[in-house]
Amino acid sequence: MRYERMTPFRVMDLVRQAQAYGDTIHFEVGQPDLPPPPGVKRALGEAVERERFTYTESMGLRELRERIAAHYRHDYGVEVDPARILITPGTSNAFLVAYLLTLEAGGRLGLADPSYPCYPNFAAMVDAEPRFFPVDRSNDYLLGPEDLEGTALDVLHISSPSNPTGTLYDAEALKRLADYCREEGIALISDELYHGLVYGKRAHTALEFSDEAIVINGFSKYFCMPGLRIGWMVVPENLIRPAEIIAQNLFISAPTLSQYAALEAFDYDYLAEVRETFRRRRDYLYEALNPLLPVDAKPDGAFYLWCDVSAYTEDSTAFSRELLEAIHIAVTPGIDFGRHGTATKLRFAYTRKIDHMAEGVARLEKYLKERP
Ligand SMILES: Cc1ncc(COP(=O)(O)O)c(C=O)c1O
Repeated sequence: MRYERMTPFRVMDLVRQAQAYGDTIHFEVGQPDLPPPPGVKRALGEAVERERFTYTESMGLRELRERIAAHYRHDYGVEVDPARILITPGTSNAFLVAYLLTLEAGGRLGLADPSYPCYPNFAAMVDAEPRFFPVDRSNDYLLGPEDLEGTALDVLHISSPSNPTGTLYDAEALKRLADYCREEGIALISDELYHGLVYGKRAHTALEFSDEAIVINGFSKYFCMPGLRIGWMVVPENLIRPAEIIAQNLFISAPTLSQYAALEAFDYDYLAEVRETFRRRRDYLYEALNPLLPVDAKPDGAFYLWCDVSAYTEDSTAFSRELLEAIHIAVTPGIDFGRHGTATKLRFAYTRKIDHMAEGVARLEKYLKERP
């Protein structure tokens, strides 16, 4: 059975286990604790009042797709035809659409190792073959054409900023990859879900460098709406109709109430505050944690620190369990994200208030000092 090739999303298991203790410090959860822009709540209430309980068209509300196109103009200076935008139930479903659009059974999908754990599991659903390319300090946790040479890929799927490392492809690195993929006939999928949560740098979309890339983004992180389960994807012109057909079959339409709510998500003043909150949290946690468990990847964006725990363990799963049981700190084992160097890494999420994190750091410092 295909499911036998899938692995659990361990962080979600950890979220459950962490509930066993009343005083758990949460470094595991990859979702913002901030409310969405205030207009979102109002729009959601209004949509309920107006009984917006029917499906929308499968590509999504026209008005929302126009807002998203305006967002590309606002944030990147890129013109995107709203006809190329498909609204999806979370980005998670967009991955399946993207793979169905680009991969045959046996098709080769290039992924960074480590990277977001669900990608290879979506590959298993469509019988594609993931090929993993190691990323570490030697290549700044980023893939370049030189890492891919000699491997015949059908698709390359990157994320920037990355989960779990927080690393970001700058304009030049992204352009090099986009050009390489075009020359080699490789479909490029760019997961840009953490755009907006980039600190002191500018995020670039693959759409700046390619009309052929499939770009995936959504409302779960920067827009603080993870439970509304809504995302989007931009597809090249020749894949609009195939994407629509897949959407019609896979989910009919994204949740209607969430689509109406998302119309009010592009509140740039509020979103700047969200970014600033996470920037402060990153600065705090980086400074506090780095002397204890060195941060191995440049934390330019998202809300994660990728920490080296090789001084303490060769088994990040056992170490994560130990920290939960001994001092009630929930932190995600590196092994959730791949095989390359992940047995000696932990991923810390800075998605909680600084006071909360400071209590965790204090417990950790004491424990590591006294640990036999
Ligand atoms: C890199 C990345 N992509 C996609 C997702 C899925 O998010 P959602 O389905 O809520 O849009 C996540 C969730 O943590 C993620 O980290």
